[in-house]
Amino acid sequence: MRRPMIAGNWKMYKDVNEAAALVADLKRVVFDIDNVDIVVIPPFTDLSDVGEMLIESNIALGAQNCFWEREGAFTGEISAKMLKSVRCVYVTIGHSERRKYFGETDETVNRRIKAVLDNGLVPIVCVGETLEERENARTIEVVRTQVSGALKGLSEEYIEPMVIAYEPVWAIGTGRTATPGQAQEVHAMIRGLLKEMYSSSLSEGKRILYGGSVKPENIEDLMKEEDIDGGLIGGASLKADSFAALAQTTSDVYS
Ligand code: 13P
Repeated sequence: MRRPMIAGNWKMYKDVNEAAALVADLKRVVFDIDNVDIVVIPPFTDLSDVGEMLIESNIALGAQNCFWEREGAFTGEISAKMLKSVRCVYVTIGHSERRKYFGETDETVNRRIKAVLDNGLVPIVCVGETLEERENARTIEVVRTQVSGALKGLSEEYIEPMVIAYEPVWAIGTGRTATPGQAQEVHAMIRGLLKEMYSSSLSEGKRILYGGSVKPENIEDLMKEEDIDGGLIGGASLKADSFAALAQTTSDVYS
């Protein structure tokens, strides 16, 4: 069975003091969950402090993005090596907000994935269709193109640690979550594509998270789906009690 993951993408919320308060609360409420990988993904400015607070806890640290170069004259950018030095383990790549507002493409996603893996970190690669694409019955085509573009030229052993997150853009921050059936359909398609591109063992082992308005009230049915292996959570990760409820329900479903 694939080990589930619950990852909280804080987006551009929580200054360093707010982050410390949230992490202190979170450590108290999730410390006894041992069958779920729990990850927090704060803004860059919080990473160093949060990373220290998480030492010897059951919560891992992730970053929201990174540049593909190791170092250099790239004002405003952060490298994977820098993220590693503040105890990051995961990096989300290609979130739809990066694609929409900051010009991220499948090609730049591919370059960032390489930088992350080359530094021994784990990419959480985000894909998902817009509402218009879904309404035009283009979901499968769009997600297939994103996954194959992201993984272009990358070998099976190389991408072994990678996690994928399916986040339909129309479900993000809207309160309108995909039904478990809608999400499962795309997750199964992604798993099938990984089998086509690589092998059954890669595809069977790959964790595919769902993201988009996941809440304590709807997570159980999502997690019961065969090909959904966890959640990438925005809004509901900003409070310790709701994030803990998501991790606990996932733990119960997998027990
Ligand atoms: P919400 O959970 O707020 O819809 O955000 C999902 C998301 O974008 C996580 O990366």
